[in-house]
Amino acid sequence: SASVAIFLSGGGSNMRALVEDMQGDHPARPCVVLSNVADAGGIAWARERGIATEVVDHRPFGDDRAAFEAALSAALAPHAPDLICLAGFMRKLTGGFTDTWAGRMINIHPSLLPKYRGLHTHARALENGDARHGCSVHEVTAALDDGPILGQASLAVHPDDTPESLAARVLVQEHRLYPAVLRRFVAGDRTPLLLTA
Ligand code: GAR
Repeated sequence: SASVAIFLSGGGSNMRALVEDMQGDHPARPCVVLSNVADAGGIAWARERGIATEVVDHRPFGDDRAAFEAALSAALAPHAPDLICLAGFMRKLTGGFTDTWAGRMINIHPSLLPKYRGLHTHARALENGDARHGCSVHEVTAALDDGPILGQASLAVHPDDTPESLAARVLVQEHRLYPAVLRRFVAGDRTPLLLTA
């Protein structure tokens, strides 16, 4: 079966959704959970589950992204992943890393791409008065939050939504979308999966 490395920086609810789906006859297994933040909640959860973990703090590398990425690669090597899933990993990756993993690395982003690359996606959707919002899973390329879209889940924005209420509803959809897309991706299916809440 395919070995999947999952990268995160925070609570890791998407990582948990992926790990919980990768059981039984699933064609993939988590081989390592990697964080750039030592006390990320997702690291503690993975450790308790007996999943290998790695922490690569970005701070000692300063602006030297190539050196940070070399450290990521060194931490990954013993786990021999076939694929990488970014799940709330809040560091930009350069072409040096994304080219190495081209076609083998995917990300979840909390907007209906190509809208709202980058940060504060929920506030931006509200500011623009969007009727619908959601999340996307895409292949990772050197351009931030770009790359072929593998799936999207959309939902209706409510008149009384705040960035927080919207984020919470989108997150529920992220947990539906990401495992479903990973299953298809492992099976070689790159046709976009479109879900509606
Ligand atoms: C998720 O909403 C994910 O889409 C977003 O961070 C959150 C992580 O939550 N990712 C990005 O913004 C990537 N630029 P989680 O740690 O609970 O999965």
